[in-house]
Amino acid sequence: MQKRKVIIDCDPGIDDSLAILLALNSPELDVVGITVCSGNVPAKLGAKNALKALQMCSSLDIPVYLGEEYPLKRELVTAQDTHGEDGLGENFYEEIKEAIVNEGGVDFIIDTLIKEENVSIIALGPLTNIAKALMKDKEAFKNLDEFVSMGGAFRIHGNCSPVAEFNYWVDPHGADYVYKNLSKKIHMVGLDVTRKIVLTPNIIEFINRLDKDMAAFITEITRFYVDFHWEQEKVIGCVINDPLAVAYFIDRSICSGFESFVEVVEDGVAMGQSIVDSFDFYKKESNAIVLTEVDEKKFMYMFLKRLFKGYESIIDSVEGVI
Ligand code: BDR
Ligand code: CA
Repeated sequence: MQKRKVIIDCDPGIDDSLAILLALNSPELDVVGITVCSGNVPAKLGAKNALKALQMCSSLDIPVYLGEEYPLKRELVTAQDTHGEDGLGENFYEEIKEAIVNEGGVDFIIDTLIKEENVSIIALGPLTNIAKALMKDKEAFKNLDEFVSMGGAFRIHGNCSPVAEFNYWVDPHGADYVYKNLSKKIHMVGLDVTRKIVLTPNIIEFINRLDKDMAAFITEITRFYVDFHWEQEKVIGCVINDPLAVAYFIDRSICSGFESFVEVVEDGVAMGQSIVDSFDFYKKESNAIVLTEVDEKKFMYMFLKRLFKGYESIIDSVEGVI
C-alpha cells in the first residue's frame, strides 16, 4: 500500500491526542511531522503533549515542531477549562525526556512542501501556522496534496459563541486568510459532523476490558472532558472532534457534504463564524468541501479497531456498545 504523507498541525488537547493516536495506528498514513500552534493550550505545552501521544505509540522518532504561539491578531484565549490546565485532563504526566520539541513549525511546513511530493495537511487546531506559512511562501503550497481542517460550523450552533467553533474563533484572521488564499479546496470537518462523535461511558467501560495501557490513557485524559461536557451541555460522555478529521482523510465514505465558498468572520458579534455560501449568493468559486453527514458508527469502529489491534472480533461482536 502506498502510504500518504501527512503533516498533522494541532494544539493538543485531549481530542488532538486521540487524533494523533488514530493517525499513528493507521497503515495508510506516513506522518512526516507534527506542528503545534497555540489553541487549547499555549503552543509550548501543546508540543510537549504531542510527544506524550507519540510515546503512547512508540513513535518518538516522528518530529514535533513548535509553531506560532499567538494568533495573527487576536489575543490568545486557550481552552484550559475544557482540556485541563495541562491540556491532557489534568493528569500532569511526567515530561517526555526521550525526544525534543524542535523550533520552526512554520518553516518545517514550507520545507516539507518544497522537498516532498504529495504531502497533505490535517489541521486540528487554529489555522495560525498554516496562515503564516502561506504568507511566507504561497508558492510552496502548490505542491500540497489535500488539506483537511477540523473547524467551523455550518447549520449547527457554535461552541464558543452561538455561531463560532473554537479553532476558527481563536484565530479568525488566520482561518479567513487560509480560506481565501489556499489554492486547494479545504475539507471542512466542522461541528455539524464532529458533534455526533461521542465517546460514551459504555465505550470507555468496554475499552477498559481490552488493552490496559491504551485504555488507561484514553480514560485518564477524557475524564476531565467528560465532566466538562456534563456541566456545559448535559452530555454524557465527550465529543471527540479531531479524530474524525483523520478518519475522514483515510476513508471518504465516513463523511459527505457539498462544495461551497466559505469565509470566516474576523470580528464583531459573529467573530469566528464560518459563513458557508450554500445558496451561491456571492457567485464565487467554491473553496471548500463542507461536510454535513457522518457515519458515526463507521468512525467508531475504525477508531476502536485501530487503537485496540487484536481485539477486532470482540469489537465487532459487542452489541449495543457502539
Ligand atoms: C476543536 O476545538 C478544540 O477544543 C478541539 O481540540 C477541536 O479541535 C473543536 O471545536
Ligand atoms: Ca484541536
